[in-house]
Amino acid sequence: MIPFVDLKTQFQQHRDEFMQAIEQVLQSASFILGPDVSRFEKEFAAFVGSRFAVGLASGTDAVHLALRAAGVAPGDEVITATNTFYATTAAIELAGARPVLVDCAPDTYLIDVAALERAVTPRTRAIIPVHLYGQVAPMDSIIEIARRHNVTIVEDACQAHGARYKGHGAGTFGAAAAFSFYPGKNLGAFGDGGAVTTDDEGVYNRLLALRNYGSPQKYQHPTFGTNSRLDGVQAAVLLVKLRYIQKWNNARAQAAERYRKNLSGVADIKLPALAADSTHIYHLFVIQVPDRRDEILQELAAREIYCGIHYPIPLHLQQAYAYLGYRNGDFPVAESAAQRILSLPMFPEITDQQIDQVSETLITVMHA
Ligand SMILES: Cc1ncc(COP(=O)(O)O)c(C=O)c1O
Repeated sequence: MIPFVDLKTQFQQHRDEFMQAIEQVLQSASFILGPDVSRFEKEFAAFVGSRFAVGLASGTDAVHLALRAAGVAPGDEVITATNTFYATTAAIELAGARPVLVDCAPDTYLIDVAALERAVTPRTRAIIPVHLYGQVAPMDSIIEIARRHNVTIVEDACQAHGARYKGHGAGTFGAAAAFSFYPGKNLGAFGDGGAVTTDDEGVYNRLLALRNYGSPQKYQHPTFGTNSRLDGVQAAVLLVKLRYIQKWNNARAQAAERYRKNLSGVADIKLPALAADSTHIYHLFVIQVPDRRDEILQELAAREIYCGIHYPIPLHLQQAYAYLGYRNGDFPVAESAAQRILSLPMFPEITDQQIDQVSETLITVMHA
């Protein structure tokens, strides 16, 4: 059996470190906003290359609260790509704003910058470039568009821990950037978690209030806030994992190279294209097959090889977004990709033998 991600092996490999870190939180009973959360925030900010990081309860909260802290308010429009995960647009709605969707580039699946600029209106307040699958969106063009139209950038870096663009970390380009520590992410907690990074002290201070009842001092609430804090236990786990993230990202890149070697030149398989100026941390290894994708997925599962689809329905065609008024055919690139994309098993501990087995089985199933 080859799982899509294998969280059990990673736990076993570092079991003692995790158990020690967790036990120390339990012994000290620092469950909420304790020393591990502060230490993790400092170390994560340093890892990303930003001045500040604020630990939050999830990536969804990270996008939502980053938007609010960056000034997005009810009635505003926020532009993002239709082929992102639902949480990106849910976060826009949580901030009271209206999602405006655009198509993606056919090779990298990152936001189509020409379409992005066409979607700007006088109501546009922010743009969310999503660093999808582990590559950084074309930030030079996006920053230029944002400057020209005086709109804010909030990065969705939930799939891009440690990715770099022209040498700068994902999470350092916008007014704020959101990360998820969902267990399957490149840097994943043992439950839900998230963070926002920023260089802006004002955004940082607003986030501290937003995550903690708007309360700089107990029982004083000068501004609105909710409850969205990273748990001490999760921070302790993430501190252990931060020691290894670079090594794990490198292992993913090596696995990707082996997939490329095995699958290059195979008829009807389109390998992931590398985005200009970005590294790829291979949160996902997404290929395209021209037809029979769902059958191929099922036939692989029947042989106990588990793949994924990220994502099968573009957001403009989701029922939850019927109110936005988009139609089938509005975003042909994303619609076509959604029919053809297939995410192969990818995790740092995947062995050469497993990669070879996935590759051989895929070729057999495709050409059967
Ligand atoms: C692109 C993107 N945005 C937002 C999220 C939301 O993160 P979470 O699941 O931690 O709420 C995720 C991950 O699930 C994601 O992949």
